[in-house]
Amino acid sequence: MTKYRIRGGKPLHGSITISGAKNAAVAIIPAALLVDGVCRIENIPQISDVTLILQILQELGADIRTVNRTTVDIDCSHIRNRQVPYELARKIRASYYLVGALLGRFGWAEVPLPGGCDLGGRPIDQHVKGFVSMGADVDVRSGLICAKVPGGRLSGGQVYLDMVSVGATMNIMLAAVLADGMTVIENAAKEPHIVDLANFLNSMGANIMGAGTDVIKIRGVKQLRGGTYSIIPDQIEAGTYMAAVAAAGGDVLIQNVIPKHLDCITAKLVEMGVDVEELDDAVRVRRSGPISRTNVKTMPYPGFPTDMQPQIAAVLCLANGTSVLTEGVWDSRYRYVDEFRRMGAHIQVDGKVAVIEGVSALTGAPVHACDLRAGAAMVIAGLAAQGVTEVDAIYHIERGYENLVGKLAGVGADIRTITVPDEDAKAQVG
Ligand code: EPU
Repeated sequence: MTKYRIRGGKPLHGSITISGAKNAAVAIIPAALLVDGVCRIENIPQISDVTLILQILQELGADIRTVNRTTVDIDCSHIRNRQVPYELARKIRASYYLVGALLGRFGWAEVPLPGGCDLGGRPIDQHVKGFVSMGADVDVRSGLICAKVPGGRLSGGQVYLDMVSVGATMNIMLAAVLADGMTVIENAAKEPHIVDLANFLNSMGANIMGAGTDVIKIRGVKQLRGGTYSIIPDQIEAGTYMAAVAAAGGDVLIQNVIPKHLDCITAKLVEMGVDVEELDDAVRVRRSGPISRTNVKTMPYPGFPTDMQPQIAAVLCLANGTSVLTEGVWDSRYRYVDEFRRMGAHIQVDGKVAVIEGVSALTGAPVHACDLRAGAAMVIAGLAAQGVTEVDAIYHIERGYENLVGKLAGVGADIRTITVPDEDAKAQVG
């Protein structure tokens, strides 16, 4: 079993370069299924969710060539196998994008129900509603989402999303680009990765208007052609390192970001007494004084991102006074709280609200990464804590953070990956 061992209490100094956005990459890579020709995709993050989605495409018959560390060429002109491998697909949430892409291209898709972080119920009824509005028959059986268009080609549809859903917005967009006629998505999500997917598809010849607003119109085209596209920087990876500096103190230049995408995170950190300076494609984050309490509510973009909720909680554990955190997107995203308590944090949770009473110091402890962002939050708490923290289940973290240990060690953190024999790990759990 591998873990991260962190000796906390060292402020961070230097610079960190942000990788391509996970939640854009895991939609743009399956989108290549819609394209006749070679898609060169640049700024791909090296994370396990991306490796998995590339592997799935390869199993379907895509020709994938690695150009360099962050660039791949994907050619889906000769897809021969449409059976999505069960074991791979169920490990990753984003495998649901294969439904939209395969349905759009072939009028037929059978995809295993997706996996991903356990954040409470994760229904896909809004995705299904979108596909049905475009003329597909969809049902779920034997662990598979089965979708079929009787005539072979989807027709434009009108769909109003009952809640703002990133996944449904992207999936309906994927299905609609090759449909016959116009599709309109109302109450669409506006996250930066929605705009990135639309820009990718438009650069390959699609006709998508309004991405980034709550009404997206997609006029179907006959064919998409190959091209080159570079994925945007990861908003949440950048926010995670901003929170790490806020918690541990120091002065770090976070490079290769789009500062506008970070406004919702910057605003809260500034309220908490952190100094954030926006540059053209970087933010400089500094903290030396005390952390002030604040309240945070997560919301769809441009609100404060739910994917930053555990990381901001780590910072608030060390604030002067009591903060109220409200989760506005997921039913259950506080499973990590018991782990923080091991480190001396004072947190009470009631439903979607967590009340965090700041303490003057956290103390290092063995903790568990319950999911991707909770794992990142454990690392942040460990960097700020006195003594040694060991974070296990780091495979969750590696799903979404490229070279987390190297990037943090590069700004002076005392963090390394250690391997302990499985028997020792079992004995500790027992
Ligand atoms: N929802 C429904 N029905 C649907 C779809 C969503 O009820 O058909 C509900 C969900 O249960 C949730 C809310 O709508 O309460 C929002 O869910 P959304 O569809 O936006 O989430 P998602 O697309 O499954 C993506 C990210 C998540 C991120 C959310 C919200 C990917 C692969 N995942 O999930 O990222 O939390 O959007 O921004 O893009 C992460 O990166 O750590 C992560 C969990």
